[in-house]
Amino acid sequence: MATVTDAPRTGFAPPKVRRTQCFIGGRWVDAASGKTFQTFNPATEELIADVAEGDAADVDRAVKAARQAFDSGPWRKTDARDRGRMLNRLADLMEENLDELAALETLDNGKPISDSRNGDLPLAIDCIRYYAGWADKIHGQTIPVRGDFFCYTRKEPVGVAGQIIPWNFPLLMAAWKWGPALATGCTIVMKPAEQTPLTCLRLADLAQEAGFPDGVLNVVPGFGPTAGGAIVKHPGVDKVAFTGSTEVGKLIMRGAADTLKRVTLELGGKSPNIVFADADLDAAVAGAEVALFLNQGQCCCAGSRLFVEEKIHDEFVERCVERAKGRRLGDPFDPNTIQGPQVDREQFDKILGYIEKGRQQGAKVLTGGGRFGERGFFVEPTVFSGVKDDMVIAQEEIFGPVMSVLPFKTVDEVIERGNKTCYGLAAAVWTRDVAKAHRAANGLRAGTVWINCYDAFDAAAPFGGFKQSGLGRELGEAALNNYTELKTVTMSLA
Ligand code: NAI
Ligand code: MG
Repeated sequence: MATVTDAPRTGFAPPKVRRTQCFIGGRWVDAASGKTFQTFNPATEELIADVAEGDAADVDRAVKAARQAFDSGPWRKTDARDRGRMLNRLADLMEENLDELAALETLDNGKPISDSRNGDLPLAIDCIRYYAGWADKIHGQTIPVRGDFFCYTRKEPVGVAGQIIPWNFPLLMAAWKWGPALATGCTIVMKPAEQTPLTCLRLADLAQEAGFPDGVLNVVPGFGPTAGGAIVKHPGVDKVAFTGSTEVGKLIMRGAADTLKRVTLELGGKSPNIVFADADLDAAVAGAEVALFLNQGQCCCAGSRLFVEEKIHDEFVERCVERAKGRRLGDPFDPNTIQGPQVDREQFDKILGYIEKGRQQGAKVLTGGGRFGERGFFVEPTVFSGVKDDMVIAQEEIFGPVMSVLPFKTVDEVIERGNKTCYGLAAAVWTRDVAKAHRAANGLRAGTVWINCYDAFDAAAPFGGFKQSGLGRELGEAALNNYTELKTVTMSLA
């Protein structure tokens, strides 16, 4: 039974959804409490749907279903290659329903339809296919130990994975987490973000159609401290994977300690985007715009500290301001829109608060600086110059369309300043000098460094943070280790 009803399969029209349920043990069910919460369209502030509000009781049901599927259900006996086939089937179904999923994402999150269709969906589908390919290629080693023994290792699924995801890339974050968990043979209890539960629920529908056995995938929508907290505490959950704020990441790590769950965290950032005077400036200006403004600035890896070499600073800033002014805001369902609303009022207020703080501390607003329009949570593309390293807007994650430009003089200086943050998620360097590019790439304490590009993501390339930006890596072969336990088997040959 579909949770999301009346959604058209084609076209750009906003789908109509009214009410959704939890997906537990292969069945669509109301929350045990009977409670629901509302999800809103951030472009119009109108209600989209009432969503079943899961809490500890629903998480418990979901964990039991996931446990059973893992411990004694058919999933345990499913051949690795068949897990891969199901993942491929899921990717095919996502592709067949691409228009609907993209429209649902735009409706719930507010991101422009051109981004959902050309970015989020293709990346999510590619991620599921990438991990489909891994399913039957996860193996151990034979080890030449001393003595008359035969020793080998096995990589076994870690068990029930609790996965808690944010609202900025709802479907893509689900794909990043489902891909490696299902490829390795784990079962899942996922909690989507309360702001954007709809695409994840629709994905559960498609997974059922793809043939995953009951209980392998469970989706419990709800709030962080209740549904999320219950996943973190539940003794039946073996591992927690979280993407979201650094603040909540720390709570999760503490909460998981009691049951010693395996923990991986993808958290916040304050990524330096560094432009040297010898760069291809056309590419760097365009890259700086994408780095910061993509997804309304709601990216964990946003290039939110734009370091520009002093020699070109004034000209570069002028060009960034031109581009910010040229951004087309409006109805996210208009294919020409490139910037939609922020996800909700909380984020909208938080961003406007940071803009105010920047002004108070003496940075200069060159363009933007306020609300756009009268309806919906739109924020004007904003550019600050005269930003100092220790200002709040240069230190804290704003998660909005607010660019801060900081001048610098030398390579060593910019590496040092680039690293002066508690975060270490991403960084970028723009230069035509190969040695300089690699010197900076080596010196920057970040999980990803882009050279002459930004936000170049691929399912095969690991992604994650140094320092307080997280723990562990998603994507690539690296993510498989998050979902496997290494078992050593030693047999006497005597
Ligand atoms: P959040 O970290 O509170 O929410 C992310 C997810 O964690 C949601 O599913 C939420 O329900 C859940 N959660 C919240 N509290 C929890 C708890 N105590 N136990 C278990 N799960 C919990 O992020 P929020 O409040 O939506 O945004 C606040 C700020 O966090 C943003 O302004 C941004 O700076 C940052 N953020 C970073 C993201 C990233 O991709 N790294 C994504 C979303 C937000
Ligand atoms: Mg929060």
